[in-house]
Amino acid sequence: MNLGISVITIHRSSFGIAFDIDGVLLRGKDPIGGSPQALRRLYGDSGNLNVPFLFLTNGGGIPESRRANELSELLGVKIVPSQVLQGHSPFKTLLKRYENQLIVATGKGEPAVVMSEYGFKKAVSLEEYASCFENIDPLAQYKMWTTKQGLNRSSLPLNTVPRYDVSSETVKAVFVVSDPVDWGRDIQVLCDVLRCGGLPGQDNGHQPQPPLYFAADDLEYQDNLTNQLWKPVILYRLISLFDIQAAFPSNRLGTGAFRIALESVFNRIHYNPLEYVSFGKPNPFVFKNAEAMLKQLQPSYHSDYFKEPGDSGSQSFKTLYMIGDNPSVDVKGAQQVVDTVEEAVDYILGRECIS
Ligand code: G3P
Ligand code: MG
Repeated sequence: MNLGISVITIHRSSFGIAFDIDGVLLRGKDPIGGSPQALRRLYGDSGNLNVPFLFLTNGGGIPESRRANELSELLGVKIVPSQVLQGHSPFKTLLKRYENQLIVATGKGEPAVVMSEYGFKKAVSLEEYASCFENIDPLAQYKMWTTKQGLNRSSLPLNTVPRYDVSSETVKAVFVVSDPVDWGRDIQVLCDVLRCGGLPGQDNGHQPQPPLYFAADDLEYQDNLTNQLWKPVILYRLISLFDIQAAFPSNRLGTGAFRIALESVFNRIHYNPLEYVSFGKPNPFVFKNAEAMLKQLQPSYHSDYFKEPGDSGSQSFKTLYMIGDNPSVDVKGAQQVVDTVEEAVDYILGRECIS
């Protein structure tokens, strides 16, 4: 595996690290590249964190608290929820606007639970929303996974089950929280919602499109050695079979691919082009937010070693490192390239003169 390290030099003496997850620390559910050992090096003997770090992923689908527990188990170090920034984490900033409004959330995992945990009081998963409209997905009967299991409302968390029929209520916004699972259904239902002003099946004349938000816009993720973009900045190295056995060995389509599919269809059937906002890397907002979060992590974690006289512990870092595997979203302009996350941490600690 080839990883890039982006170095963003800013104005102060300490540093922090943001780790990409998929393709850097984990492939599927398996730790890769010596990631458990690499992360352990960021803690002191007492178990306190010496180097503030967090996870900056375009993935998601479960609340940050659960992802933190999952990462703690997989990587063998104690991770707290504030160290987990997922693609959908910035959706929290939209709470004031939609707190009590009907919103539809889609994607793998539990998108409505994610939104509910952020405080959105009327978040409904697209799956649940679609179930309120008979025949909205004309292909549903052919989908063995839905006809076999059915939609078991009683198994859904309480806060994702509409307490009443939402089919007559206007959807005020749509959130693509993570990679959609059933693209066909989602494109159909989202086109219905977005072209009819949030009321599918109703001809309301020219209604404005409800706002649409994407948690990320990566066309592909989990890059491998065939990625041509790396050629100018790295030396090719052979990947071992061990590195590629846990997941499919070529890029996978991401949320950005779904966005293109939805946009292409919508723009063919609607008089106005699709309007949307995408979060996730490489949106500069996401990196700024990561910096702010690292600053918040600093006072409780940082040892005195990093502090200067008069330092409250929450000022700017001199350097922020981003370790990622996707040149188009993680490490644009990467200055140093290594094979594994363990080597990346070695490089950073060496550069910062910490062994
Ligand atoms: O679905 C996961 C993908 O979008 C990328 O995740 O951790 O490589 O940013 P990551
Ligand atoms: Mg990645």
